[in-house]
Amino acid sequence: MECPSTYYFVLAAFHLSFIINPVFFGQAVESPEYTPIQQESDFEIRIYKNISWMSAPVVKGTNFQKSTTAGFHRLYQYIHGANLNHTRLAMTAPVLTTITEAEYFVKLSLSASYEGSPPQPDPELNLQVEKWREKCIAIRKFSGFARDDNIHEEAEALRTSLNEHWNVTLENKGSYTIAQYNASSHLSGRFNEVWMVVSGFGAEGCSNHGHDQGKN
Ligand SMILES: *[C@@H]1O[C@H](CO)[C@@H](O)[C@H](O)[C@H]1NC(C)=O
Ligand SMILES: *[C@@H]1O[C@H](CO)[C@@H](O)[C@H](O)[C@H]1NC(C)=O
Ligand SMILES: *[C@@H]1O[C@H](CO)[C@@H](O)[C@H](O)[C@H]1NC(C)=O
Ligand SMILES: *[C@@H]1O[C@H](CO)[C@@H](O)[C@H](O)[C@H]1NC(C)=O
Repeated sequence: MECPSTYYFVLAAFHLSFIINPVFFGQAVESPEYTPIQQESDFEIRIYKNISWMSAPVVKGTNFQKSTTAGFHRLYQYIHGANLNHTRLAMTAPVLTTITEAEYFVKLSLSASYEGSPPQPDPELNLQVEKWREKCIAIRKFSGFARDDNIHEEAEALRTSLNEHWNVTLENKGSYTIAQYNASSHLSGRFNEVWMVVSGFGAEGCSNHGHDQGKN
C-alpha cells in the first residue's frame, strides 16, 4: 500500500511543477495584434488594437518575481477551467505584469473570440477583466530572465530614450509593464519587453490621449 507521505510528495511535486513549469508558450500561441509605427535602435512604438485582458491583482508586499508567479497561477487556473463555464481557454502570450505604486497586475490577453464575453472566473481567483481601447505603446526589448534586479533599469532606459529623443507624454507616470513571452522552463533565448503607454507621438492613433478605465 502506498505510503501517504510519498503520495503527498508526488502531489506537491506535481503542484510545484504546475506553478513553475507550465507549458505555456508552445508554437502557435495567440498574441494581441499591433501595428509597428516607429522602429529605433533602442525602442519601438506600436499601436495595439482593442484588447481584453484577464487581470490578477497582487498587493505589493512581495517582489516582482513572486507576484508574477502568484498572479500567473490564478490565471493558469482560470484558463484551465476555473471559470463558471468550466471552459478551457487557449494560452496567450505575452504575460504582462503591470507595476504600479501599490499593486502588481498580472495579465493574460483573451483570445479575440472571447472579447466582450469571456467566461467568468471563479470568484475566489479574484480576477478582473480589463479592456484596452486602441493604445500607443513604447517598447524596449530585453533578453534573459525578467527579475527584480533588472526590470527597473530596463524601464529607466526606456524612459531615458523617450525623453532624450522624442517629445512623447507618458500616460501613467511611475507605472510600467513587463511583458514576458517565454515559459520559465526556457533558460535561454528568452524574450521580454518593457511597455509604457504614450501619447503625443504625432502619429495617427498616438496623438490623442486615449483614456479608458483600468490601469496600464
Ligand atoms: C457561459 O455560460 C453561459 C450560461 O450557460 C452562456 O450564456 C455563455 O455564453 C457562456 N460563455 C462562454 C464564453 O462560453
Ligand atoms: C474598440 O473599443 C471601443 C470602445 O469600446 C469601440 O467604440 C470601438 O468600436 C472598438 N473598435 C474596434 C475596431 O472594435
Ligand atoms: C512637446 O509637446 C508639448 C505638449 O504637446 C508641446 O507643448 C511642446 O511644444 C513640444 N515640444 C517640442 C520640442 O516639440
Ligand atoms: C521566446 O519567445 C519568443 C517570442 O515568442 C520566441 O521567438 C522564442 O523562440 C522563445 N524562446 C524559446 C527558447 O522558446
